Amino acid sequence: MDEYRQNNLALWNEWTRINAASSEYRLQQFKAGENSLAPLELTEVGDVSERSLLHLQCHFGMDTLSWARLGARVTGIDFSDEAIKLARSLSSELNVPAEFIQSDIYELPQHLDRQFDIVYTSYGVLSWLADLNAWARLVARYLKPDGFFYIAEMHPFAMIFDDEASEVRLRYSYFNREVERFSVSGSYADPTAECAVKEEYNWPYTLGGVINALLQAGLVPEYLHEHPFTVFQQFPYLVKKENHCWVQPEGMPQFPLIFSIKAQKRK
Ligand SMILES: C[S@@+](CC[C@H](N)C(=O)[O-])C[C@H]1O[C@@H](n2cnc3c(N)ncnc32)[C@H](O)[C@@H]1O
Repeated sequence: MDEYRQNNLALWNEWTRINAASSEYRLQQFKAGENSLAPLELTEVGDVSERSLLHLQCHFGMDTLSWARLGARVTGIDFSDEAIKLARSLSSELNVPAEFIQSDIYELPQHLDRQFDIVYTSYGVLSWLADLNAWARLVARYLKPDGFFYIAEMHPFAMIFDDEASEVRLRYSYFNREVERFSVSGSYADPTAECAVKEEYNWPYTLGGVINALLQAGLVPEYLHEHPFTVFQQFPYLVKKENHCWVQPEGMPQFPLIFSIKAQKRK
C-alpha cells in the first residue's frame, strides 16, 4: 500500500471514531430505527427486497444496514478496520444480518468472488481512489448480467469552489489530475474533534472521467442526473432543508452539488 493510502487508512480509522460520536451521523437515532439513506437514493435505487447488494466503501455500515432493513441481502466492504469492526458490531447489536469485509477496494478479488443484483456506492467515495478505470472494472466484475450499478456522489464541478469562503469563489482547477494534499482538522462531521492524522490525500475526478471509466468497463449509463442539493454542509452558505438535504440560498444562481448514475452491463 502506498504512503497516500496508508495515511488515508489511518485517517479513516480516526474518522470512524469521530463520525460515530458526531451528531451529524445520528447513530443513536439509527439504532432506534431511523433509516440513514437520503430520499434521492431511496427513490432512484427503488425496491431492494430479496436482492443481493454489494456496498463499496461502506464506512461503518449505517447505509448498508439501512438497505438490509429494507430487505436487501447486503455485503459491505471498506478498507478501514475500525469501520468494519463497528459495522459488524452494529449488525449484531441491532440484529440486522449483513456481511462486512475489510479490504482495500482494489484488493477485493482476494476476498470476494461472487456477483450481486446491485452494486452500490455513495457520497465521498471517488476522491479516495487513484485509478477510476480499475474501480469501474471491479464494479463490472461484481455485477450480475441483469443487475445494476448505482452511485450518488459529490459533483466534481462543485469541488472547484472554495469550501471555506462565505460566498462562491473559484479555488481549484477542474482538470487537475494529480493527487492533492489537504490539512485535516477534526472530521467533516465534527471539525472540532481531536484527530491524530493531520493530512488527507485526494484524487480529483471529472464527470467525463467517471462516465468514460464506466463505459470502458462495459457499463452503460441508463441516466446521469445532476442535482442542486447535497447531503451535508459542503459550503458555509448552504441552507439546511431537512436531514440529508442542503441547498443553495434562494435567488443564488444554482450549480450542481451531486450527481447520480444508474448503469447496466452492456448486453
Ligand atoms: C465518505 S465515506 C463513504 C460514506 C458512505 N456514504 C456512508 O456513510 O455510508 C468513504 C469511505 O471510503 C473508504 N475508503 C477510502 N479509500 C478506500 C480504499 N482504497 N478501499 C476501500 N475503502 C476505502 C473509507 O474508509 C470510508 O469509509
